Amino acid sequence: MSRHYDITAVRRQFPVTEHMLYLDSAHQTPLASSVRDALLRFYSEGNEFAGPKSLWLSRVEQIRGRVAKFLNAKPTEIAFTKNTSESMNVAANALPLERGDNVLLVEGDHPNNAYAFLNLQRKGLEVRFVPLKGETASAEMFEGYVDKRTRAISLSHVTFHAGHRFDLASIGRLCAQRHLYFVVDAMQSTGVLRLDVKAVQASIVGSGCHKGLLVPQGLGILFCEEGLDELQPAYLAMSSLANPPGDYIARADNMDLKHGAGRFEIGNLNLPDIHALDASLDFIEGIGVDAIEAHLYDLGDRLIEHLDEQRIRLVGPRARADRAPHIYVLDLPAETWLDYFASQQVRISPERDGIRVSFGLFNTFEDVDRFATIVARRVRTSALSAQAVR
Ligand SMILES: Cc1ncc(COP(=O)(O)O)c(C=O)c1O
Repeated sequence: MSRHYDITAVRRQFPVTEHMLYLDSAHQTPLASSVRDALLRFYSEGNEFAGPKSLWLSRVEQIRGRVAKFLNAKPTEIAFTKNTSESMNVAANALPLERGDNVLLVEGDHPNNAYAFLNLQRKGLEVRFVPLKGETASAEMFEGYVDKRTRAISLSHVTFHAGHRFDLASIGRLCAQRHLYFVVDAMQSTGVLRLDVKAVQASIVGSGCHKGLLVPQGLGILFCEEGLDELQPAYLAMSSLANPPGDYIARADNMDLKHGAGRFEIGNLNLPDIHALDASLDFIEGIGVDAIEAHLYDLGDRLIEHLDEQRIRLVGPRARADRAPHIYVLDLPAETWLDYFASQQVRISPERDGIRVSFGLFNTFEDVDRFATIVARRVRTSALSAQAVR
């Protein structure tokens, strides 16, 4: 059941749901049949026609346009990368950072964001980890850490480890007021939560595509706000240039960069995954991100009800405004629960503070109830055996 879309039709796209209780979409989403079909079509084109590369490249531009629309950006503001880490490293190395400058990150945020900046410590950058205060990160949390040498704030939209949903709009406002670059890791939110890069005033957004965007690993996207021409790519290839040499002979006197995010693209792209992204955007837009978000929040509400009944603490935020729709960490010791879940064909992830349940667009209320029953059964059995020992 879903109050927001035809979940039966959506679920049919994920045959894995027939033999497994899949609650691990924040790790990776299973492959949808329509996305698999797009990959197969791409491989058949390569197989039967030796790859119509010009056609593939024209499709890349069309799909770039779709990604732009999806994020409320312009096509020239979008580059394809390999994953989130590459997008974050592009950002960190492109920003005009000087020795003694500092960048603000959130303590405990995803390491793939943090290392991109920590790597620049050897060039004299100061990385300041700002501790989370309460259930969300908003401008207020960062204000006391901004000084004359602060150049950027970089953080995840949604945390993978407890499902916080950070207040990007207020942080974007702070960055605009203080002339800071605003860098966002959207890996856990793309396809699950609407992200309007203009509304949150982001300078750079990076994301992989293998979670909410339903594409196999190996494709990332990068939004870079128009006009940030001072951002210089750390790597260069023909594809980064405004006028690449037609005769394929490199010349040092004609190295003007493309305007826009294209300057950060180097070499051949992950064409199979970009084709897969086209199919996944068909699928996601056919349902609507707002409908997906609303459905996942409904599932989360139902899960929280079960947790309250069973007196199991939710590690992350409870309020819809502060929490991501799909990520819930239960205060259960992973080391004693993992084998049990595996034995019940339940796929979850161990997390820092417990067991992480994460929903995908194909999960149902029945999935949530089934999970709660499986948890309750083990709690009951453990209580009975503890009584017997006494
Ligand atoms: C917030 C966040 N950033 C980044 C990543 C992964 O980075 P990458 O796409 O480079 O593998 C994850 C999880 O896989 C994540 O949860």
